[in-house]
Amino acid sequence: MTEKQVVLSGMRSTGKLHLGHYFGTLRNWVDLQERHDCYFFAADWHALTSDYEDPSAVTRYTVEAFADWIAAGVDPDRAVVFVQSMVPEHAELHLLLSMVTPLGWLERVPTYKEQLREVEGRDLSTYGFLGYPVLQTADIVLYRAHLVPVGEDQASHLEISREIARRFNSLYRPVFPEPQALFTPTAKVPGLDGRKMSKSYGNAINLSDSPDEIRAKCMSMFTDPTRIRRSDPGHPETCNLFAFHRLVSPPELAEEVAGKCRLAQIGCVEDKRLIADQLIAFLEPLRRRREELLADHGALLELLRRGSERARERAGETMAMVREALGLDYGRLLREGVR
Ligand code: TRP
Repeated sequence: MTEKQVVLSGMRSTGKLHLGHYFGTLRNWVDLQERHDCYFFAADWHALTSDYEDPSAVTRYTVEAFADWIAAGVDPDRAVVFVQSMVPEHAELHLLLSMVTPLGWLERVPTYKEQLREVEGRDLSTYGFLGYPVLQTADIVLYRAHLVPVGEDQASHLEISREIARRFNSLYRPVFPEPQALFTPTAKVPGLDGRKMSKSYGNAINLSDSPDEIRAKCMSMFTDPTRIRRSDPGHPETCNLFAFHRLVSPPELAEEVAGKCRLAQIGCVEDKRLIADQLIAFLEPLRRRREELLADHGALLELLRRGSERARERAGETMAMVREALGLDYGRLLREGVR
C-alpha cells in the first residue's frame, strides 16, 4: 500500500472570505484534493491570537467560511475538513512542542516583530501570539503532513515548523515527517484600491456580497491613474480594474476591453459596469450554493462534526506515537502495569 502524501492547510476564522481567499487558497485546495490526502481546517484558536478581546464572532466566521469552502468546490467526502478546536489534540501537542521550542526561534520569526510593531488597536504582547508558530507546527505535524501549501509570507513559519519537528525527532524518536512547503502558482488578487485584497484594508469583495454590493464596490474601484480624461488612452496591463478582467472575464471579452481601452474607445465608468456584471455572474453560483448550505445549518454542522471526527482519528494515532516517544504513556501503564 502506498500512502498518498498528506497535505495540510488552514485558514484563520477572522472574518468573511473574499476573492483573495478564493483565488489564493480555495481554488488550490479544490485542485489538491484530487491528488492528495488533504486536511483543511478552520484555525479558530489561531483567530484568538489577535481577536482574544472579543471572540464572539469566531464561531460564526468558522461556519460561514466552511460554507464558502464547500460552495467553492471543496468536497467534504474527499478532503477532511474540520475545526481546530474540535480536535483538542492540537492543544496537547502544542503544549508538548512548546517545551522543546527555544524562545529565540520564536522571537526571530520576521512577521512577529513586524506585527508587534504595526498592528494597531490591540496588544499583541501575549504568550499566545508569540507561540503562534508553535500552534501552527502542532497543526501540521499532528497529521504527519508532508506538504503545506504556503504563500511567500508564510515561508518563515514553515521553516520554524521544520526545525521544531526536527528537534522533537532527534530528542526522542522520529515521529514527524519534516513538512515541505508547497509553493503553488496563485493569481495575485488586488483590492478595490490596488493594494493586496485584505479585510483590514477595507478593499475586499466578499464571496457573500450581494449583486448590489458588488456593483457599488466596482464603481469605487481604482483604475489606471495615468488616464485622466475619457479621451486619454488607457493601460490595461497596469490597470487595477483590468486585473479583475483577467481573473473572471472570458478571455475574448478581456481582450476586447483591453483593445478598446488602449484606443480610448471605452471609458473607465463603462468598464466598471462591465466588470461588475462579470463579477456578479462569476460569483452567482457560489453565492447560491453558499446560501443553500447556510439555510440548513444542522446539516452543515454535521459535516463539520464528521470531518473533525475523521481528523481526530489521525490525530489520535499521532498522539499515541508522541506519548510513547516521550515515555508519557499512562494508558499503557494502566493496561500493562509498571515494569
Ligand atoms: N497561519 C495561517 C493563516 O494565517 C493559518 C494556519 C494555522 C495554518 N495553522 C496552519 C496554515 C497550518 C497552514 C498550516 O491563515
